[in-house]
Amino acid sequence: MFTISQRFPRHRFFAAKLCAIIILGSTIIPPSLGAQDYPPDRARGKAVYDRHCQNCHGSNGRGDGPAAASLNVPPTNFSRFRSFIKSDEELMRTIEHGIVFSPMHSWRGRLTDGEMQDVVAYIRVLSQYGQ
Ligand code: HEC
Repeated sequence: MFTISQRFPRHRFFAAKLCAIIILGSTIIPPSLGAQDYPPDRARGKAVYDRHCQNCHGSNGRGDGPAAASLNVPPTNFSRFRSFIKSDEELMRTIEHGIVFSPMHSWRGRLTDGEMQDVVAYIRVLSQYGQ
């Protein structure tokens, strides 16, 4: 006849405990508290925007930056309704991947995830008050 410790040797208990800790741990700690600095910071977003985006999109986000006139596709005016109603995720996707055949190239690799989130937060400020 088997005793309980023969059926379930110690190391199995240990492995089961470890699994439980990992599974519980990952459900309790929300993913947003991972490596990224969260929540997005508008002030940091403004710094990123002024440096990389305002040349085309304009300092108020109306698509009238100094470089806008020379572009074949006009830069988005963020306070226009069509842009305003887009979700943060949509804007984030455009920033991350860019738009094909458009001067709006991908910023993945040039900006960190945190910087992209910050700049979306700042665009939201501009689209609200930019009118
Ligand atoms: C070289 C000029 C240029 C620069 C620099 C630039 N953009 Fe753009 N951006 C554009 C153009 C042009 C479009 C519109 C493209 C289209 O409609 O095809 C656009 C579109 C966008 C959109 C999509 C808006 C919408 O409503 O769908 C977002 C978001 C955006 N840009 C964010 C940024 C951010 C953030 C930066 C800086 C990190 C930036 N852009 C830098 C030219 C630029």
